[in-house]
Amino acid sequence: MIRLASMAVLLALLSPSAVACPITDAAASAQDDAAKVDFVKDVLPIFRERCFECHSGDSDEGDLLLDDKTNVFDDERSDAAIKPGSPKESSIYRRIVLPADDSDIMPAEGDPLTKAQIATIERWIREGASWPDGAVQPVVAKKPPEILRVPELDDAQTALVDAAVKRVRTAGGTATKVAATSNAWYVNIGLLGKKLDDARLGELLAGLEPALVWLNLGRTAVSDEGASVLAGFGELRRLQLQGTAITDRALDSVGKLAKLEYLNLYGTSITDAGLERLAGLTALTRLFVWQTKVTEAGARKLAEAIPALEIDLGASAQDLAAVAKRIEEASRPVNDLCPITGKKVDPKKTFAFEGKTIALCCSDCLQKFAKDPKKWFPKVVFRDPKSAATTVDADATPVLLNAKCPVSGEAANAEHSIRIGDAAIGFCCGKCKAKFEAELAKHPEAKARFVGK
Ligand code: HEC
Repeated sequence: MIRLASMAVLLALLSPSAVACPITDAAASAQDDAAKVDFVKDVLPIFRERCFECHSGDSDEGDLLLDDKTNVFDDERSDAAIKPGSPKESSIYRRIVLPADDSDIMPAEGDPLTKAQIATIERWIREGASWPDGAVQPVVAKKPPEILRVPELDDAQTALVDAAVKRVRTAGGTATKVAATSNAWYVNIGLLGKKLDDARLGELLAGLEPALVWLNLGRTAVSDEGASVLAGFGELRRLQLQGTAITDRALDSVGKLAKLEYLNLYGTSITDAGLERLAGLTALTRLFVWQTKVTEAGARKLAEAIPALEIDLGASAQDLAAVAKRIEEASRPVNDLCPITGKKVDPKKTFAFEGKTIALCCSDCLQKFAKDPKKWFPKVVFRDPKSAATTVDADATPVLLNAKCPVSGEAANAEHSIRIGDAAIGFCCGKCKAKFEAELAKHPEAKARFVGK
């Protein structure tokens, strides 16, 4: 395809009135200017129509306010919303071009932007994303937003915070202010996974004590020893320790975080005895203890000590066993003989198609089948003819096998699910689903068990 700019040069060359060099010609460049995307006329209406609902006024989803120039171009953001000149490095552009079924696509609701709208935004960013001051009247917040702040820091403290933020980002974590006008920070070093151990934790966070309000350490290698530094982070409101190696001992330090409102301990080995150490956390409103050794009685005891607290115990062992059984059933091959050679199948060489797991006799046949499943599927001889008849209606809302998201422990939603035949495993949001899928991708043998998408 010929890009518009070169087309203009071509036309200028062909035009009989083109006496001056078409590239340096002043008239031509003036014309280029005139053709530039106009923020107020071309871009703002798209934002207003499709984004403001969630990204303006008192609605600042993802900490992004599209009616606020300083927020959009804030270079404190770990992920630039708009990088003038470079659409690909601008999260706004990256989000709007995602496939329609990607859970991260923006707008988060309704149809994707049209091709023309996407092209306009792409060109506007490429041309430098000019945004005249005062072009947008900030949408007036319906209620004055309550911005989470920590007590003012002195210069020395601020310098230490800045240094720690740099370290976290260099290490591959994210550090973001919780709101553009706040002095409180959110750090996610769960992103480092098992690379984050106890020693590393202390090093990275030193200096953030007075400013850190949200911290995600989920699925890292942090254990009780590392968690002991947390006692010094008295401003923490949210703490995620899910999937770490901590035990009850770590809750001695966590129990000192008087401002803590949200605590996620999902998938750790804490027990009722550990919960007792949290009894002084009167600000706590949400606690996740799914897949721990905490019992209902233990949870009830803590709930009595902190009346506003909602404790999530998650699915029972029975629920999980049911999920495991369904996966097992759905992944058992439906045939004994290879549809290509007629030989006995190797139960490890399987391919998922039309909601069925089909076994082949060898890797060669597996590849052949995978290349053209439609051709070979009719040749499959079902061990149980009944199972041949049950087809999966890909459009029907799947039956969820689990009530709670296995990643966050929050309520599972059929809209974010992975199908297993006619049933599905649900997640609370697209992000958790993506995390789970990324995990699955590392284990092809487990992935083969999930049928379809
Ligand atoms: C129905 C609500 C809704 C609409 C409409 C919407 N968004 Fe979002 N947006 C969200 C939510 C929720 C998040 C935070 C979760 C996430 O990052 O996916 C978010 C996050 C983002 C982020 C990431 C911010 C960051 O730095 O982490 C960008 C960029 C974004 N939206 C751009 C847009 C654009 C551009 C539009 C309009 C074309 C739009 N959004 C429309 C709900 C919405």
